[in-house]
Amino acid sequence: MCGIIGYVGAKEVVPIIVDGLKKLEYRGYDSAGIAVFEEGKINRRRVKGKIAELEKSLNEEPLKGHYGVGHTRWATHGRPSEENAHPHQDCTGSLVVVHNGIIENYLQLKKRLQQEGHTFQTETDTEVIAHLIEGYYENSLEQAVQQALQELEGDFAIAAVSVKDPEKIVAAKMGPPAVVGIGENEYFVCSDLNPLITHTKEIVFLEDGEMVVVEPDGARFRDFSGNEVTKTPEHITWNPLMIEKGGFKHFMLKEIFEQPQVVRDTLQGRISLDTGKVFLDEVGMPANRMDAIKKVVIVACGTSYHAGLLGKYFLENMAGIPVDVEYASEYRYSDFILDKEVLVVVISQSGETADSLAALRSIKERGALSLAICNVMNSSIAREANGVLYTHAGPEIGVAATKTFSAQMAALALLAIYLGQMRGNLDPKESLTFIQELQRIPHKMEIILDRAKSIEELALRFVPFSHFLYLGRWVSFPVALEGALKLKEISYIHAEGYPGGEMKHGPIALIDDLMPTMVVVPKDRVYDKILSNISEVKTRIGYVIAVAFDEDEDIKDKVEDVIPVPQVHPLFTPFLTTLPLQLFAYYIAAHRGADVDQPRNLAKSVTVE
Ligand code: F6R
Repeated sequence: MCGIIGYVGAKEVVPIIVDGLKKLEYRGYDSAGIAVFEEGKINRRRVKGKIAELEKSLNEEPLKGHYGVGHTRWATHGRPSEENAHPHQDCTGSLVVVHNGIIENYLQLKKRLQQEGHTFQTETDTEVIAHLIEGYYENSLEQAVQQALQELEGDFAIAAVSVKDPEKIVAAKMGPPAVVGIGENEYFVCSDLNPLITHTKEIVFLEDGEMVVVEPDGARFRDFSGNEVTKTPEHITWNPLMIEKGGFKHFMLKEIFEQPQVVRDTLQGRISLDTGKVFLDEVGMPANRMDAIKKVVIVACGTSYHAGLLGKYFLENMAGIPVDVEYASEYRYSDFILDKEVLVVVISQSGETADSLAALRSIKERGALSLAICNVMNSSIAREANGVLYTHAGPEIGVAATKTFSAQMAALALLAIYLGQMRGNLDPKESLTFIQELQRIPHKMEIILDRAKSIEELALRFVPFSHFLYLGRWVSFPVALEGALKLKEISYIHAEGYPGGEMKHGPIALIDDLMPTMVVVPKDRVYDKILSNISEVKTRIGYVIAVAFDEDEDIKDKVEDVIPVPQVHPLFTPFLTTLPLQLFAYYIAAHRGADVDQPRNLAKSVTVE
């Protein structure tokens, strides 16, 4: 949730940290701060609000130094305010700490530290870390941090700096991600890759229970018990252009437009257009166990959960295997029953979502085989699952997921065809048909994106509305859920996604001329059924917008507005019907003046429960 960046090297530290914080801002943006070190002194600056506020303050009163740490906050303990903003300091002000996560035993620690004479200045859980380190300090920051770590319960990624032990940052991880960037005589510690790729491609991923000391001439890794750990840097292929807006007004819009390429990239190298085969050897799953699976359980949160719902249709249809789809936050606390013949697929863009990670860990304890579908390389879920199928969407900066949803659908379709072939559920001809259809999807997506202007014009008419209903059936039901989620999270319009057939069991009571209904109605096996649902809405003076196939002339007489999409295999319509809903939500939010890329109260990667 929060973002951390630290730098030690020869360069001026403030621009590096401020630039890094801007790239981390999607992790949290209610307050921000920086601490830089110069001539044996810590200079700290913190502000309530966004990084722009911090930058403004630093422009007015610049700070200088060659090492330091910065933080952008998503508040958990203590309201968003300047005093609760990180970095937090000890009693003497000679050391500072930044933290991502939650210290669960902070109240006990705080009480004890207060009894020992420490004075607290904030409402945060983080401040206890600074005082603990202060209390343990004998001869080095590393020794003090290591001892403090023994007392912390909960999830944390931290970075600490002290004037007593200059030119070094000590960082540690237990839960949320922490990476170390290795440059030439300069080192970075950070919560994720995005800020680092403009500086270096050589990255070390810390594991839980590991800490690092970075200095201008090197990095040393240890576990929390003090044993040395050998780490090998990984070379990252993401490039800096991927995290620029590239002429678009918002990252979200850019990412919507990247979807054709993202689907191409996720399919690339994994399909044969000659034989209809899908190759997923790279995922590293034991073939004998894949052969034996009798059931799939998909576990995820948010948009990834909606992709999971689509995965169920793909897998049941193409692989002929029963599938359950579960919210990770519920599943982890349920009495779920798994055995060795169940494949659990955990879908997570970030690979760090706390509930999905916790669910994965319980699943592994029960002996089930796990496959991660992740976008962020080497993320916790990607590393901890038995195998990983990466979506090749590149970094997603907009807080609302768009391109990664399409990439997840592509990965799930590949998995379904792969398992269908393995289990003899699909013959080569059927596989080839599906693969050819998938291959044509990016071009069809481009056709929809070329029509963005008309979707914007339509969206403009709905800017003042306060409620929306989204309906779909069969594969269009998860699309309705996703469309409603996009609208509510970025425009703050109340929107409900519902299966068309369920509407008459309650939501129909809401229908009136102030609650428009968006209906996803491609020509598929439930076309006639959803037409009946449209009639039910219309009879109650409802206003209906339909997302329908280009060729569907009949729909035009039945609804007020139609957003046309190209025809595609019925199972794959979500690849196309989702795009107009993303654009519709985007344009409404943008015209309402909403902060599209950083909607209120949200954070990109939900690393706390
Ligand atoms: C919605 C959105 C969230 C995420 C959810 C899971 O636009 O982005 O609902 O989908 O927080 O995140 P990941 O996929 O990183 O596990």
